[in-house]
Amino acid sequence: MARKFKKLVANSYSRDFRSVAEVVEAELVDPGDGQVLVKNHFGGVNASDINISGGVYFSDGVFPMALGCESAGEVVAVGNGVVGFEEGDLVVSPYLGSAFTEYLYREPARLVKVTDISPGTMSAINAGCTASIGLEVVGEMGSGETVLVTAAAGGVGNWVVQLAKRAGNHVIGTCSTEAKAERLKTLGCDRVILYRDEDLGTVLRSEYPDGIDLIFEQVGEETFDTCIDNVATRGRVL
Ligand SMILES: NC(=O)c1ccc[n+]([C@@H]2O[C@H](COP(=O)([O-])OP(=O)(O)OC[C@H]3O[C@@H](n4cnc5c(N)ncnc54)[C@H](OP(=O)(O)O)[C@@H]3O)[C@@H](O)[C@H]2O)c1
Repeated sequence: MARKFKKLVANSYSRDFRSVAEVVEAELVDPGDGQVLVKNHFGGVNASDINISGGVYFSDGVFPMALGCESAGEVVAVGNGVVGFEEGDLVVSPYLGSAFTEYLYREPARLVKVTDISPGTMSAINAGCTASIGLEVVGEMGSGETVLVTAAAGGVGNWVVQLAKRAGNHVIGTCSTEAKAERLKTLGCDRVILYRDEDLGTVLRSEYPDGIDLIFEQVGEETFDTCIDNVATRGRVL
């Protein structure tokens, strides 16, 4: 191999993504020992991208820092000593630095083999797993419960709504606009609270006087306090 490939990197931290992001070229070389070379087919645009390049989550990055949270592609070469992966395997990479690069060098432990890749796969990797693990592992979600999702119209919230509904629960979602409310109803929300028009606490106290069994809270501050005030006995707030 003697070609080059493109990737997007950040050269320093800034909340102004454009000011630090730069497309650079790198040599496309054979993978090193213990490495897998992936040709990315899809890269996910994640709300966290601008927090990472802004130094919000951590501030000890090494620059230039590869950007992007998740990608899906196909294995095109494996280095010596790699077990369990071969050329042609379809994989997802749920780690930082994955998304915005044509090719990706990774250790096998940082790749997950999948049977199919599509743009929808991007959403499932991090947002979908955050919702699923939160609801099922941490939240011990059952069926026939009342589940409240704040910021329901976001990437994670959309997954929470669908998974909670498919598990047989009554799902309440909060969002800002009518258009988002309509979308949330099609995804499975039984009650959408437009937080700009309705007071969350008032609605919960009047329509759910027994409290909410499981709350997936993503907004914080006053919204978090309202959730705590309205959780049912033996309820859970995530
Ligand atoms: N995406 C991931 O892979 C991932 C993984 C792990 C953790 N997380 C965390 O999960 C949370 C949500 O991430 P996301 O990717 O779903 O973000 P997102 O797609 O940007 O959605 C965030 C939602 O928050 C709502 N919102 C924004 N400002 C608000 C405010 N002031 N009051 C109430 N609602 C507000 C917005 O909906 P409205 O316009 O309807 O308010 C928006 O839909 C974040 O804390 C993120 O760090 C995300």
